[in-house]
Amino acid sequence: MTTHERILIIDFGSQVTQLIARRIRECGVYAEIVPCTAATLDALLEARPRGVILSGGPASVYAPDAPRLEFDVRTLAEHHAVPVLGICYGLQLLAYQAGGSVIPAERREYGRAELFIDRTDPLFEGVPSPTVVWMSHGDAISQLPEDYEPIAHTENAPYAAIRHQRLPIWGLQFHPEVHHTADGARMLENFARRIAGASGTWTPEHIIASTIEQIRQRVGSRGVLCALSGGVDSTVAAVLIHRAIGQQLHCIHVDTGLMRAGESRTIEQLFREHFDIPITVVHAGELFLERLRGVTDPEQKRKIIGHTFIEVFEREAARFPDVAFLAQGTLYPDVIESRSVAGPSATIKTHHNVGGLPETMNLQLVEPFRELFKDEVRTIGRALGVPEWFLERHPFPGPGLAIRIIGEVTPERLELLRQADEIFIAELRAAGLYTEIWQAFAVLVPIQTVGVMGDSRTYEHLCVLRAVTSTDGMTADWYPLPHHLLGRLANRITSQVRGINRVCYDITSKPPATIEWE
Ligand code: XMP
Repeated sequence: MTTHERILIIDFGSQVTQLIARRIRECGVYAEIVPCTAATLDALLEARPRGVILSGGPASVYAPDAPRLEFDVRTLAEHHAVPVLGICYGLQLLAYQAGGSVIPAERREYGRAELFIDRTDPLFEGVPSPTVVWMSHGDAISQLPEDYEPIAHTENAPYAAIRHQRLPIWGLQFHPEVHHTADGARMLENFARRIAGASGTWTPEHIIASTIEQIRQRVGSRGVLCALSGGVDSTVAAVLIHRAIGQQLHCIHVDTGLMRAGESRTIEQLFREHFDIPITVVHAGELFLERLRGVTDPEQKRKIIGHTFIEVFEREAARFPDVAFLAQGTLYPDVIESRSVAGPSATIKTHHNVGGLPETMNLQLVEPFRELFKDEVRTIGRALGVPEWFLERHPFPGPGLAIRIIGEVTPERLELLRQADEIFIAELRAAGLYTEIWQAFAVLVPIQTVGVMGDSRTYEHLCVLRAVTSTDGMTADWYPLPHHLLGRLANRITSQVRGINRVCYDITSKPPATIEWE
């Protein structure tokens, strides 16, 4: 989206760099993250940013191997009129560049602090004094560089906020991007809108219109394939692409037979009836189950499912010879995670939904959400008329229920799991808890345990329920479901699902466990 006015964020490896981008975007200004290793002056200027933000980071600016910039940030402000805001490590870097001293802080500061504003400044427009800010630093400026002045302090940090006396350069020792900094969003908005002068046109309508235009230009009269998994990202991508190119989009949903109860039908109905978008549903459950017969190893299951998926999809895709593109719902965090600076913000993604498709099919990728966060995709989905119940759905793994049945996947076991899972999700929705939970599902543990029903002894399967909270799936905590609901679930599942006589609730966090059981 090269036409947007933008703020560039140079990433020095902070875990919360993405939050800066999100906060800036929330005030209607497009923000993009650039790893510090790629942030040359030429590269920055070429992107014509309205403003530049230097992120925090775990290093000490005085350490020999600390990430630095090959240019002086004053050049940006002085010769190119680009305002600069340094946050935490970013503040220390700009002070260090200008000849100030940065040393290990006498009193390291982590967490809450009260910020007292000492000078009127556009960055603090509308911000009360004192205000709560969030600190996280071991180093501090001990001597201000020439031409800089303090504009706010905390009890422990005399230079909690500084500014250049002549040039549009600011530095904050605290983190305005985190939720705990009460007026942080306002400060970032002040920087992006008041100081950098961005007009705030990064709205869902604008994103939709410009993405549609780009897709049309790129695709021309050729065809685009979209593998619909039933997830939010691929669904919203398909609806948006359909708006752009109509009948040139071919949507394929492969029913692997490993989906939740009624899942494939729901997807089909949503597209056919709600959106009036043609969709090909391939019922390949028998093939998947045949290939999975006798397989108990989880990685083996994943491989078989992955290969079979590609095979089925390719066969189906061959019916559309005009196709030159494959649509994918890749999100911005996936893009930056794969190219981030080495440091805490570099995370390794291990799971992919439809891995391998573009390589084997020789198709170019259309990724309309490469620059968007998940929340933004939801907002776009809403603007495109995707129903709310669909947008709030929990993530579902590509290999589906196969990795929620411990041991061999058989039609009987799938049926048991589906029934238990359906009851669980319906109860969560009825209790109004579904949206508070990141992911909830049932797991079938096909060991038999003894039970008693009526007058007879039973010897049936164990069902485990799991519900976790998380923000990205990388770490997770178990959700404290109310006792009465747990009791009701155990009751309903054991009485309504024949073959399950015991229900357990998983109370392990990730780490040490994972979210899925396999
Ligand atoms: P774990 O179990 O590793 O899961 O804590 C983290 C997130 O990834 C999902 N997951 C998968 N998604 N293919 C996928 O597309 C997979 O093989 C896979 N395994 C786990 C899981 O549901 C959770 O959201």
